[in-house]
Amino acid sequence: MLSIYKEYTDGVKSMKIIKSPKEMTDFALEAKAQNKTIALVPTMGALHEGHLSLIDKARSSADVVVVSIFVNPTQFGPNEDFDKYPRQLEEDAKACQERGADVIFAPDASDIYAPDASTYVCEESISTHLCGKSRPKHFRGVTTVVTILFNIVRPNIAVFGEKDAQQISIIERMVRDLFMDVKILRAPIVRDSNGLALSSRNKYLDTLERQGAARVHQSLLAGKRLVHDEGCTNIDRVKALVINHVTNAKTRVIYVDVVDASTSLPVQTLEKGKCRISMAVWYGQTRLIDNILI
Ligand code: PAJ
Repeated sequence: MLSIYKEYTDGVKSMKIIKSPKEMTDFALEAKAQNKTIALVPTMGALHEGHLSLIDKARSSADVVVVSIFVNPTQFGPNEDFDKYPRQLEEDAKACQERGADVIFAPDASDIYAPDASTYVCEESISTHLCGKSRPKHFRGVTTVVTILFNIVRPNIAVFGEKDAQQISIIERMVRDLFMDVKILRAPIVRDSNGLALSSRNKYLDTLERQGAARVHQSLLAGKRLVHDEGCTNIDRVKALVINHVTNAKTRVIYVDVVDASTSLPVQTLEKGKCRISMAVWYGQTRLIDNILI
């Protein structure tokens, strides 16, 4: 018998919140014994429409939808925002239930990492570029926790957003390299009406800042126009235009690069339809990332 932490029901459909890894695995094995397929949507919570669009995709791809909500300590650097990262399980649970999730898996850090845990999963090529340069152990934390989540939830399918295009490329590489039996689905970026890519970290911005931060997307659009409308294939020119467009008193560029749309590795030649401009900026105290297919 499962001891469920909490059960939500609107009288039609119920959703469980499971905190224990063992109970999560028992639930997954029970579902699989009934020939049901499982789709996992890994998240760190503070859910917005971007996350919820992944739940929609999961819902239409499998019988059982599990949303994990876990602010993973191993992917944050020592001076990053782990402590202030927004946590709002009740609100998230309501949103997940409305979107038709079956289970929220919300473990504590101590359930996932033993005090003397010393095993990591590392991807060593894609992770060295883009965000990997300024966040040295970030992707090691991501690949490790995603492997742990796969081992606990046993999904047939896992859904990730292209907002974090480098992250998906790394997960796809890991799944291929380690023969993991999970199908990875990509979901497109969901944006605010002003173009700002939705992110849990947008909660750090006030209304005015959210307007200002839209210039990140506008600069990517300017880069894309240079390629599409003016036929530019010079990567340095594209990067310079984007940097120029986004930089102001409030925005500091961390990187702008042109990468392969599928592997997220840097490219030497710019080919329409096969490349992405990826960027990260400091907007005041908030780190924002975005990308666009060109
Ligand atoms: P988190 O930032 O919460 O994002 C969870 C998932 O939602 C990721 O796949 C991310 O790409 C997707 N997502 C976020 N914003 C989106 C948007 N605007 N449009 C579409 N998808 C969006 O990414 C993580 O958490 C963590 O690194 C995780 C994979 C859970 C491992 O801890």
